[in-house]
Amino acid sequence: MAKYNVFDCSIVELDRHHSDRKGNLTVVENGSTFPFDVKRVYYLYDIPGGEGRGAHAHRELEQLIISASGSFTVTLDDGKSKRSFFLNRPYQGLYVKSGLWRDLVDFSSGAVAMVVASDIYRKDDYIREYSEFLKYRNNE
Ligand code: TYD
Repeated sequence: MAKYNVFDCSIVELDRHHSDRKGNLTVVENGSTFPFDVKRVYYLYDIPGGEGRGAHAHRELEQLIISASGSFTVTLDDGKSKRSFFLNRPYQGLYVKSGLWRDLVDFSSGAVAMVVASDIYRKDDYIREYSEFLKYRNNE
């Protein structure tokens, strides 16, 4: 099966409900927001300055990565090209397709990275060695 590249990934504008007096609300809903069923939500927070997260690829998992608070940068890598996305709006999500390496860096103080995922946690779905990732990508 053909693998996705970094140009298949983009920032998705999410539903935003604004109330003048009461602030904003954003919805991520199965079936309408993006083309995968939501099986899991997790979030990264209290990330010390200068620390990076991610540094792995997923074979099958698809994700929507949202900056629920603060900002950070996600760099995607398909083995040939890299693309960086700056996330700093709670109503924008980066749709990350399967088979891509991701690095999350430059977290602002108090940043919360919320990840909406297409499957439960499966250790076998991870590729954590970059050299193994390149082998996996070149095997297409
Ligand atoms: P890890 O995938 O290394 O986080 P990141 O890529 O964001 O740096 O996960 C950190 C730890 O949390 C690791 O021990 C596995 C565990 N974990 C779960 O148990 N369930 C999950 O859904 C996730 C994402 C991680």
